[in-house]
Amino acid sequence: MTGSADLCNDGRLKWLGEEVDIRGKSVIELGPLEGAHSYVLEQMGAARVTAVEANSQAYLKCLITKELLRLQRVDFVLADFMEYLRQTDAVFDIAVACGVLYHMANPVELISLLAKRCRGHLLLWTHYFDGAVLGKDPAFKLRFTKETGATHEGFEHVLHRSNYVHADKWSGFCGGSAAYANWLSREDVLNCLTHFGFEGVKVRFDDPSHPNGPAFALMAKKKVMRSRFPESEKRLLFAYRRTLFLQAHIYHLRYFGAHLTTLNRDCPACLSVQEQGTWVTL
Ligand SMILES: C[S@@+](CC[C@H](N)C(=O)[O-])C[C@H]1O[C@@H](n2cnc3c(N)ncnc32)[C@H](O)[C@@H]1O
Repeated sequence: MTGSADLCNDGRLKWLGEEVDIRGKSVIELGPLEGAHSYVLEQMGAARVTAVEANSQAYLKCLITKELLRLQRVDFVLADFMEYLRQTDAVFDIAVACGVLYHMANPVELISLLAKRCRGHLLLWTHYFDGAVLGKDPAFKLRFTKETGATHEGFEHVLHRSNYVHADKWSGFCGGSAAYANWLSREDVLNCLTHFGFEGVKVRFDDPSHPNGPAFALMAKKKVMRSRFPESEKRLLFAYRRTLFLQAHIYHLRYFGAHLTTLNRDCPACLSVQEQGTWVTL
């Protein structure tokens, strides 16, 4: 791996391993960069890792990693993961989204998409906006130029626009594909996860004085959506509602002068009435 970050020995993935047994699970990984986390996820026993990378140079590095380390259960996909998540029908056991949320123009949509495409645990590491911390640094003051209130799928939040200020011209740039990103506050990130159905949110690697802006890692689990009623009660409820509907319909026929004669003799099992000479099946 290039660079100084020891991503093959990353505490964030160790934390994931402590919280979830990854063996046999399907994983979606967003922005693998050079494939270090993808390698670790395979080593941890993932059944399949789908790692989606938009930067073609980074993608080629991922393919080199795959070849050098003989990765067998990692599929690198060259795509914008927002588009990938919007279009795929696949649902994954685990989602790993490290270092990507703060590169999004619409970070709330990313969390909403992850909630749709992940049925189990989510590991998220991100920078977040904190005016009290960032306001002290002139470089950050230059970057954050605008605050906008926004709502996405019922979630109200504030977007803090972060301009890349030439960083995107650097050959080693590994940010998003838009000209700017929008950062969320720490509170909005946490509330957003709950809004879109993640529960049991845990925080680690809390680093308000990270040189690139306040950052933290979050682990959360997708809430299992259970029906309020078990199967037998659902059938009973359906029958009860249907009876109410039938009663309402019969009253309607009586009050509005329809000629209700008799129940359908040809088909005793059918719930039909004769309305002005014609059989109407309810
Ligand atoms: C800051 S790096 C994070 C790398 C690694 N996940 C980590 O935590 O160290 C962000 C990565 O996400 C990729 N990326 C950013 N936006 C993307 C998008 N919309 N679709 C796919 N990849 C994206 C970048 O090209 C880069 O490889």
